Amino acid sequence: MGITRTGGPEVLGLLDLPEPDGDGLVIRVAAAAVNPVDLATRSGLIPTALPAVLGWDLAGTVAHAPAGCGYTAGDRVMAMTAQLGTGVGSMAEYVRFDPEYVVRVPDALDLVDAAALPLAGVTAVQALRRTPVRAGRRVLLVGAQGSLGGQLAVRLLDEPDTTTDLLVRPGDAEACRALRLGRPGGGAVLTDPARVEAKAYDVVVDAGGAPDLIEAVCPGGTFLTLVPFAAPDPARRPDVEFVLHGVELDRADLAEVAAHAAHAARDAGVRPRTTVLPFADAHEAHRRLEAGGFRGKFVLMP
Ligand SMILES: NC(=O)c1ccc[n+]([C@@H]2O[C@H](COP(=O)([O-])OP(=O)(O)OC[C@H]3O[C@@H](n4cnc5c(N)ncnc54)[C@H](OP(=O)(O)O)[C@@H]3O)[C@@H](O)[C@H]2O)c1
Repeated sequence: MGITRTGGPEVLGLLDLPEPDGDGLVIRVAAAAVNPVDLATRSGLIPTALPAVLGWDLAGTVAHAPAGCGYTAGDRVMAMTAQLGTGVGSMAEYVRFDPEYVVRVPDALDLVDAAALPLAGVTAVQALRRTPVRAGRRVLLVGAQGSLGGQLAVRLLDEPDTTTDLLVRPGDAEACRALRLGRPGGGAVLTDPARVEAKAYDVVVDAGGAPDLIEAVCPGGTFLTLVPFAAPDPARRPDVEFVLHGVELDRADLAEVAAHAAHAARDAGVRPRTTVLPFADAHEAHRRLEAGGFRGKFVLMP
């Protein structure tokens, strides 16, 4: 599933490409998730070589494994292919990918669950490492209702002795209050960006796209955004550390994401929220994501 030209969701189509040959680790894809970056690539907002198979996230089974790579045929695996950097899109029947960046799917997760996790999860882990949250700090997370925001929220709320306020759309307030239950971190659920206290937070993490909230950071604090197309002008607050974080391939971080999700599934029965469609309906997923208001992940199956 990919594009031969950029444009609206209608440019998405099935591409007939040769299967990867037997060289290297080849994964038979069971499920591949749609992320906002796929929409930006399809529209041409982010340039990519054409034709392009889209997609960053996948889960499937090993179809071919080179000797000594640590995997054998049939193993359940997941990966973030970082399509823009590697040229490898995840929305294909077979994907050849570097085994160094592939991890096993824990038993507690099915392949649809696993496909929903990599990009959002790895980005969350890396962003929080970039902005460590220490005891006593006050944090604002913008867009906690999104896929990335949700991954950030559960990790932030598990920090004891910190205050994490979650800024969400009004319709998401109830679900985000439920997310807080039983977790050690304090804080409130906010729904009106205009009422966010100015210069009050040690750290603001923006996973939604609200550049004006750089004003909510206290002097000497940090504004970390994950949304490059809605980043504030850092000159606006020279007294604030500005970070535009971009995800990087990292097997250990992906393994951490898989283990965290397996723990949530096993111990709390919490699984990624997914809507499954066939590859051929990718345009439908792109349309609904572009319209806004969708919650969870579209996961496409060949
Ligand atoms: N830097 C990186 O490496 C990296 C990695 C992954 C993702 N991202 C970016 O991070 C963002 C979130 O990704 P995602 O996978 O979580 O997407 P998602 O599941 O579609 O969630 C995005 C959420 O942001 C909300 N939102 C949009 N504008 C907002 C605003 N001004 N204030 C508050 N919330 C707002 C959306 O709400 P509505 O639906 O109601 O509009 C939606 O719930 C995207 O821009 C994505 O491109 C960056």
